[in-house]
Amino acid sequence: MIRLGVNIDHIASIRNLRKGDFPDPVYAAEIVEDAGADSITVHLREDRRHINEKDVKQLKDIIRTRLNLEMSVAPEIVGFAKKINPDSVCLVPEKRQELTTEGGLDIIKNRLKIQRVVNELKSSGKTCTFVSIFINPDFKQIKAAKEVGADFVELHTGRYADAKSEVERKKELRKIQIASDAVLEMGLGLNAGHGLDYNNVGEIVKIRGVQELNIGYSIICRAVFVGLFNAVKEMKKLLKAGDRG
Ligand code: PXP
Repeated sequence: MIRLGVNIDHIASIRNLRKGDFPDPVYAAEIVEDAGADSITVHLREDRRHINEKDVKQLKDIIRTRLNLEMSVAPEIVGFAKKINPDSVCLVPEKRQELTTEGGLDIIKNRLKIQRVVNELKSSGKTCTFVSIFINPDFKQIKAAKEVGADFVELHTGRYADAKSEVERKKELRKIQIASDAVLEMGLGLNAGHGLDYNNVGEIVKIRGVQELNIGYSIICRAVFVGLFNAVKEMKKLLKAGDRG
């Protein structure tokens, strides 16, 4: 069964619009877990535009599943992650001006820095923090992820999700399928995410070896109409439908 990680950043985005206390992402995490999510994902961005340190600390205390922290390799953020000791981290690239994470991390270009951060995170806590790296579906990046000691990669599905034509969509899907096989051959864990929604997730759940999908925006948008509990349940059902037993 493919696991569903729900990214709850945008609950905090809404809260921060009025600089108040609600909607509370910690309360949201409880609902998301009740609805069957397998992990809670948050991205502590350097500009703290949604989730902040207090949220992450509270989440760490209350969640019953797993806390997956998405983060850049900035020293300040790495220091915080080492103190919090989440169940897993996913290293992502980060630009201040972007609306959302635009592409995968370039491990080849930043190899030494990433290798150091992977070592630091894996050896820091009382329990092992699994390290995943968010990359484009590219063989060289997968190989580099293995070399720097990652446990998992998360393949960026954004180009597939944003494809403007059927031809482009199929081409991007093929890249993800080929990359997934390479990830499995290298003995890495396989996650995927970004831009996935109720219409496009079906093709991704069919891919051999996918362990977890991290999905945020589409679930939070759907929650506006059907409630958070139902929005998560609906997505969970789509993941189950793709279960290859
Ligand atoms: N995975 C990673 C690594 C991400 O950075 C994001 C966006 O924060 C997601 C998954 C979720 O993307 P979306 O909100 O488009 O579902």
